[in-house]
Amino acid sequence: MNILAFESSCDETAAAVVRDGRHVLSDAIASQADMHAVYGGVVPEIASRKHVEVIAALTDKALTGAGLQKSDIDAVAVTYGPGLIGALLVGVNFAKSVAFALQKPLIPVHHLRGHIAANYIAFPELEPPFLALCISGGNSMLVDVRGYTDMSVLGATRDDAAGECFDKIARVLGLPYPGGRPMQDLAEGGDDAKYPLPRAKVAGNDLDMSFSGLKTAAVNLIHNTGQKGEALDRSSLAASVTAAISDELVPRAMEAAKRCGHRVLVAAGGVAANKRIRADLEKSCAEDGIRLYLPPLSLCGDNGAMIGAQAYYEYLAGAQADSSLNAYATLEW
Ligand code: KG4
Repeated sequence: MNILAFESSCDETAAAVVRDGRHVLSDAIASQADMHAVYGGVVPEIASRKHVEVIAALTDKALTGAGLQKSDIDAVAVTYGPGLIGALLVGVNFAKSVAFALQKPLIPVHHLRGHIAANYIAFPELEPPFLALCISGGNSMLVDVRGYTDMSVLGATRDDAAGECFDKIARVLGLPYPGGRPMQDLAEGGDDAKYPLPRAKVAGNDLDMSFSGLKTAAVNLIHNTGQKGEALDRSSLAASVTAAISDELVPRAMEAAKRCGHRVLVAAGGVAANKRIRADLEKSCAEDGIRLYLPPLSLCGDNGAMIGAQAYYEYLAGAQADSSLNAYATLEW
């Protein structure tokens, strides 16, 4: 089954063709990151306009890259949430039009389910059940994946996402947007214990997380150091921030896997590209005898292939939409 999949939830427009959920025939992506970098973050209005400009050309590119004609497409899939509402609407409306024109089924896909499914592309042997650590620019959550479409959230951030925390601290340090990768580079060779930063404990669900206190502590530290005329060890600050973010994520992921009885842990999302977090996950999983799947860097960020992969399983489970499909900035699992 050839699925033509669209992703436009934030600042990447993507169109891909995926066969039977696992084989990527093409994956065309147009990133707008450079345009938003000027403003230090994503400007929703610009994001929507850029999606409109490139989505048709990307579709042609995806079909040509796959060596297919429109008539070879069996279904159309699209991210319908969560994300920036204006950006999502571009993908949803375009996908609705394509599905209508081709007279093919339309499959709505949850963005974070897509991030998890990126791992099905990279690891042919991977099948649920497993515990997923989803860490992106907009979300941080632990998901009990019982089946391809049967999953529930065990814990999530109460405020900022891990990626948002990286991005906002990076911005105050004068690093380019998105700040996760520059923070990783800056942290290289830094002392991760030099700056004591808070590790949040939240009341209630102990698998929930919080990153806003850490963000504020790091930003205040940067400003106070400057006001006192002291030199900031930028590299050690980046390393200390990364250690604090990892300490927030990794022990909770291990605990969540233990509680569900999962022996497999899967990482997903842009922040899963982080070297330190990957190394900490590897160490903890080796200690606890848990099999770890880390997506290749090319599949950590937003892409269309992951939407096409998840769409296949959604289709098998009977998920189909009609022309009334809407986009949602927030969306339950
Ligand atoms: O999954 P993604 O591409 O978009 C969303 O769905 O949100 O994630 C983007 C986030 C950004 O916050 C970016 O700074 C972060 O992933 N990121 C990283 C790294 N590469 C990207 N964070 C930490 N370390 C990295 N190497």
